[in-house]
Amino acid sequence: MLKGAPTIQGAVPANWNIVPEFFLTDGKAGASVHLKGDISLYGGGEVTGPLLRNGQTIKLWNTDNGAYGTDDGKRLYQTHPWVLGVRKDGTAFGILFDSPWKSALTTNPDKIEFNTEGALFRVFVIDRKSPQDVLKGLAELTGTIEMPPRWALGYHQCRFSYGSEKRVREIADTFRLKQIPCDAVWMDIDYMEGYRVFTFNKNNFPNPKQLNADLHAKGFHSVFMIDPGVKFDSTYAVYQSGTAKDVWVKDSTGKEYHGKVWPGDCAFPDFTMPRTRQWWAGLYHNFLANDMDGIWNDMNEPAVNDNELPQNLRLGTMPYSTPHRGGDGLPAGPHLLYHNAYGRLMVEATRQGVMAAKPDKRPFILTRANLLGGQRYAATWTGDNYADEKFMKVSVPMSITLGLSGQPFSGPDIGGFLGNTSPDLWAKWLGFGVFMPFARGHACAGTNDKEPWAFGADIEKTSRIALERRYRLLPYLYTLFYNAHKTGLPLICPVFFDDPADVKLRAEDQVFLLGKNLLVVPSFAKDPQLPKGLWEPLNLVEGDGSDPYQAKLLIKGGSIIPAGKIIQHTGEPSIDQLTLFICLDSQGKASGELYWDAGEGWGFKKDDYCLLRFQATEKNGVTNISLIANQGKYNINKDIHQVKAVVVKNGRIYSGPINLKSGVLRTDVQ
Ligand code: NOJ
Repeated sequence: MLKGAPTIQGAVPANWNIVPEFFLTDGKAGASVHLKGDISLYGGGEVTGPLLRNGQTIKLWNTDNGAYGTDDGKRLYQTHPWVLGVRKDGTAFGILFDSPWKSALTTNPDKIEFNTEGALFRVFVIDRKSPQDVLKGLAELTGTIEMPPRWALGYHQCRFSYGSEKRVREIADTFRLKQIPCDAVWMDIDYMEGYRVFTFNKNNFPNPKQLNADLHAKGFHSVFMIDPGVKFDSTYAVYQSGTAKDVWVKDSTGKEYHGKVWPGDCAFPDFTMPRTRQWWAGLYHNFLANDMDGIWNDMNEPAVNDNELPQNLRLGTMPYSTPHRGGDGLPAGPHLLYHNAYGRLMVEATRQGVMAAKPDKRPFILTRANLLGGQRYAATWTGDNYADEKFMKVSVPMSITLGLSGQPFSGPDIGGFLGNTSPDLWAKWLGFGVFMPFARGHACAGTNDKEPWAFGADIEKTSRIALERRYRLLPYLYTLFYNAHKTGLPLICPVFFDDPADVKLRAEDQVFLLGKNLLVVPSFAKDPQLPKGLWEPLNLVEGDGSDPYQAKLLIKGGSIIPAGKIIQHTGEPSIDQLTLFICLDSQGKASGELYWDAGEGWGFKKDDYCLLRFQATEKNGVTNISLIANQGKYNINKDIHQVKAVVVKNGRIYSGPINLKSGVLRTDVQ
């Protein structure tokens, strides 16, 4: 066994309490990081379990893990070899193990262990004054999300599968008829011809371009699924072109590797090769000529159905020794090395293709598998959860943890994917799920209908209220997305972010912060630990305060939250009636910001955006609200027609119209 202290680059603080050590046993590299002090550990990505990860072991091996049944959910669809540590005094550090090899991560507070099945790797340690600063450091190393199109922040409705264009139109029309806000309808695998990717079923989806045009006319967007497995069928154009370009994964004898997915035997693109990524990107050109708006890459662990093998031989993916050919900086290597990077390389190519096909649009791509840093290419969801309370509750720490691991754009299948969803579960889940960065209802084949109206009139009303709340918060959410894009800070954060030195908050994982100014208390939360200081209840739409299923929202003293009006989709004007919700601190002061731009396209990169900063000060019972900064050249005055201030104070509301003129907002609110 080789063992040794690493070469440390960069200044090491005096009395540093983080001591890494490397070892190599039989060609398998590992690292131990010895820690001193009372430390709370977080991160490690998507796996199930509590937010606080002290004493946990997880496996890093992307797995198609329905109902999180394999290994008790300690390995799921994504790999984040990353740990965030928070010391007693609230200072923090992050440790990044730079290896995609199959590995295991144990987070004991005195020793973090990372054991791989492969070669030596680098370890990065970021040591900063707060957990937020550490996450900014992670973003400096691994990048941030690109700004999504604004429609992607709306509610998404999905099912495996809406089986025909007719059914898709019915779903869209019902949302509008019932005045329940929604922005997107999703096409799962059944739109394809025999599950052949990049094709359309001639009977049920004969005219996808017309379908997309009709959806657009009603303010909807569409997202279509594309899996990596390409049906082994010599008459199928995608298989033919992939074969001509020699892109397929082959075994060590040079024979094409085939594994079973939905269409039966499939060939798999070897995404480690630059020419494969180029070819894959090119496939989106004709596909996107049908004007779908988003792409959903699924099954890209990659998942392979080998259920016909005896239990002990099943891998659920390709054999570990299967070679990948690499190129352009990526060395050739076995599947054991590239498995965890497969989805990440796939979505890089997908994004490249979508960008090339629609250069003026911001891509929206959702992926199931990914690797640390892959937030640059795609948003994610937490895979095949189950319709029961346990999965509902764990969806909170799972999405928070993704945010603490570099991926801010995530959410669960609201209501639960597998199994039938009861009205009660749906209502509870939607009641807080609408405050997740990605909000989508989804349902597995064979389960009950899970649209907001499918659970009876009362729950339909509850669903409408929940979704109206999300849509009212669109300006705040959009501002948070901009912040995540610029800094890498998550949208939903653990409550200890409010006061990292308050150790009582460290394990709280029912309640979460949306940005830093809103606290979301799901209806299921029992005796949550809330941050100290002033937090006032915030009601956004009629009836949300009295509906027991809605999460409680609390606004932080000292903050101003921008909200729009209730809209049915993000294409409608939101901030033409801008509301500033204000909660003054004990000094009678508050501040907040609003980011806005065209909602689509890249103008914002050339200054065509607007970042407003507001300030409120109370003196002698009068609150003055002023615009203290206005950055960017986007003309927001054409969007904002009326501004209303709502001051929340001691549970009471004081509200009135205010003026936005020549950069100054002013009102007297008693
Ligand atoms: C597995 C995905 O996780 C699920 O969301 C999807 O509905 C099915 N594949 C079918 O495509």
